[in-house]
Amino acid sequence: MSSRVALVTGGTGGIGTAICQRLAKDGYKVAAGYNAGGDHDKAKTWQAVQKEQGFDFDISYGDVRDFESCGRCIAHVEETLGPIDILINNAGVTRDATLKKMSESQWSEVLNANLDSVFNMTRQVINGMIERKFGRIVNVSSINAQKGQLGQTNYSAAKAGMHGFTKALSQEVARKGITVNTVSPGYIATKMVMEVPEEIRNKIIEGIPVGRLGLPEEVANAVSFLASEQSGFITGSNLSVNGGQHMF
Ligand code: CAA
Repeated sequence: MSSRVALVTGGTGGIGTAICQRLAKDGYKVAAGYNAGGDHDKAKTWQAVQKEQGFDFDISYGDVRDFESCGRCIAHVEETLGPIDILINNAGVTRDATLKKMSESQWSEVLNANLDSVFNMTRQVINGMIERKFGRIVNVSSINAQKGQLGQTNYSAAKAGMHGFTKALSQEVARKGITVNTVSPGYIATKMVMEVPEEIRNKIIEGIPVGRLGLPEEVANAVSFLASEQSGFITGSNLSVNGGQHMF
């Protein structure tokens, strides 16, 4: 059993839960970062349900849009489980609208939650990883970072920004035993995708060569691989998990 500690932001969500479970099965001590609109009871209920399923997760509140709040989230995990070796930047939101209708708040909410978050969390774990000469950072982006998507100028821009962050940071810390990679899910059967109007969603599914939505566990498997000791020579890369919907 490894004693490494993993923090998964957005850990109580659809893909986040699958990542937490997979990393726990890999033998790590896992903390789920959550915001849940400040609904702590909802997160505690999630934790209790996970416990019934045999998973002993720490939960740690943090608003990923806020640097100080991220600092408190990280401090809680480090006090409870130990220094963070594996950071999965998974938290994200959508506020879909075509640009002609998009409000400034729809733009900034998505940029703050999906991209500023990556700085806010990673900045506060990176020096510890450098000191300990080990780290795994996995940024969960999206197919729509590279493909683009009507109605998602905000989301596509934020998720594309993650790739630049990944590639730049991976070079800075490559000699310190730290890898930084991106996983790009396509359309996965989660609440976020189910909120896309059915007619549009069905058209999207028609365009997926595998012929179905992905499963959260299929994203979690890719994250697990990049979080493992065995992936030490893979850094600055992107792993697509999209059923063949976008190839590049
Ligand atoms: N190509 C070109 N133009 C198109 C088009 C297409 N495929 N489909 C529609 N349009 C045009 C329409 O003709 C219309 O043009 P006019 O204004 O000239 O008539 C315009 O686009 C539609 O604009 P509206 O602003 O009026 O559209 P709307 O308000 O009805 O809906 C939307 C816009 C909310 C973005 C809706 O299209 C939608 O929900 N799309 C799905 C977006 C999506 O895939 N989101 C992914 C969410 S899941 C996720 O993000 C996870 C992940 O990582 C994959």
